[in-house]
Amino acid sequence: MVCPNDTNPMGILQGGRLVQWMDIAAAVCAQTHAGKICVTASIDTVSFKRPAYVGEIVTIEAKITRAFNTSMEIMVSAWSKSVSSTKKHLISESYFTFVAIDEAGEVTPVNAVKPLTPADRKHYDEAWKRKKRK
Ligand SMILES: CC(C)(COP(=O)(O)OP(=O)(O)OC[C@H]1O[C@@H](n2cnc3c(N)ncnc32)[C@H](O)[C@@H]1OP(=O)(O)O)[C@@H](O)C(=O)NCCC(=O)NCCS
Repeated sequence: MVCPNDTNPMGILQGGRLVQWMDIAAAVCAQTHAGKICVTASIDTVSFKRPAYVGEIVTIEAKITRAFNTSMEIMVSAWSKSVSSTKKHLISESYFTFVAIDEAGEVTPVNAVKPLTPADRKHYDEAWKRKKRK
């Protein structure tokens, strides 16, 4: 829930706070896949499509699109809704890249991801294009 200390003087959720929440959700996703500690290597462009106000409920969905060798791309979407409504609104989305780290602090390989649906395959193929641009 968006609380007053999450907001700017207009009562709108701060962008940096939302990115922090998205980063945590992405870390949970990456570490669950890898079974290892993972660190954020990069965050793609984050756009804020709609404000979220004090009292609204924010839901964050993080999904792995592809694992490479030691890195993984995580797609993160954030949604908001008021308590009295069932309708949720997309407020932000971005791609995060996480890298798995072993006990010695070195980068370490992770298991591959197998796309199961046509939508999964699309994200999987596009992840490679995004990686090449970095
Ligand atoms: C991310 C980090 C571990 C990469 O270490 P590195 O020595 O550059 O590792 P490598 O060059 O061997 O690259 C390892 C993988 O990371 C990827 N990578 C490195 N920098 C990246 C970046 N800026 N964006 C996206 N991917 C990146 C590489 O493409 C490679 O992927 P692959 O093995 O799947 O092909 C290192 O830069 C680091 O520790 N950064 C700080 C992380 C941090 O503090 N995050 C915030 C807190 S969690």
